Amino acid sequence: MITSSTPGKTHLIGEHAVVYGEPAIIISVGKRAYISAEKSESVKIYAQDINQSGEFSISELKEFAEKLQQLWDNCFETKDFAPLYSLLKNEHLGHIKAMIAKTMAELDINTPFRLKIYSEIPIGSGLGSSAALSVAVPKALSELFRKNLTLEEINQIAYKIESLAHGTPSGGDNSICCYGGALWFKKGTPNVIEPLHLDFTMKNFVLVFTGIPKLTTGELVSNVRSLDPEYRDMRIKQLGAYTYEMRDCLTEQNFTRIKELMNLAQELLAELGVSIEAIDEIHNAVKSIGGGAKLSGAGGGGYMVCYHEDLQLLKKFIKELGYVPEQVELGVEGVRVEK
Ligand code: PMV
Repeated sequence: MITSSTPGKTHLIGEHAVVYGEPAIIISVGKRAYISAEKSESVKIYAQDINQSGEFSISELKEFAEKLQQLWDNCFETKDFAPLYSLLKNEHLGHIKAMIAKTMAELDINTPFRLKIYSEIPIGSGLGSSAALSVAVPKALSELFRKNLTLEEINQIAYKIESLAHGTPSGGDNSICCYGGALWFKKGTPNVIEPLHLDFTMKNFVLVFTGIPKLTTGELVSNVRSLDPEYRDMRIKQLGAYTYEMRDCLTEQNFTRIKELMNLAQELLAELGVSIEAIDEIHNAVKSIGGGAKLSGAGGGGYMVCYHEDLQLLKKFIKELGYVPEQVELGVEGVRVEK
């Protein structure tokens, strides 16, 4: 049996703007998704967290992969991914089945196997639960069937899987889950993916959960896309400028400006319509005590990332607001095979 694992992630800055070609700074978090794979008589999946299982034939999965690809192509043409999202939502174990079917198609796997999925990453909360699995599945299967894939090849398959789930994602989420650490990510041909060394700042960040988002990442990205381009694009550009500045501030350890940039990014994201009341409340409160606080990822709820030099004060303050400050290890190892 092979077990692969992948970390979750948090966006320090640049989410949404990254979809339009601006850079993002993304950091891996020490909550992991695990996939165990072994050969079996038929393809069997057990998703432990949601206590659901399924059994599929090889031909069914092949057809599903083809159907999904055709649907993705049509949706791309019409610029409306709703039919794809609804197919995945309504299909039993739809997202997981899509990940497996796509990986099998990409790796030309025709032999059955059994997969067990267990994840510490809360689902749909902006911590990269889907991206982590989209990396862990090809890693586990490539190890099981001795395909000897490089990290780059795993990441390319993960991006294709993420595209089925989110339409036209930037590729930042799967890249951080694959490579780990902290990344400077910029979409392009090819993508710019550079490791950042941030050890000194990591321990004063806390994550705060604000509730399960009502909308998916794909839906939130579409909402931003449907804004008036003039209104949207100036905010996207500004987010990009803040992200470049953030990289310099991290190098210079200019924490005052790091916090300001987090707050400025949050305010722009709110103007793009992806914040919610709870996030605004925490942001305003943390800002009032001299900290930085912003949503992380697609928004609409989910996890926030907060920073203050006085960690005890930050944690106490967040607790008083009625939320739980979570101190999670940041900048952890990317995809790996568990011994
Ligand atoms: O929903 P999350 O936390 O995985 O974050 C998505 C990040 C976006 O920039 C909104 C989308 C993307 O594809 O990069």
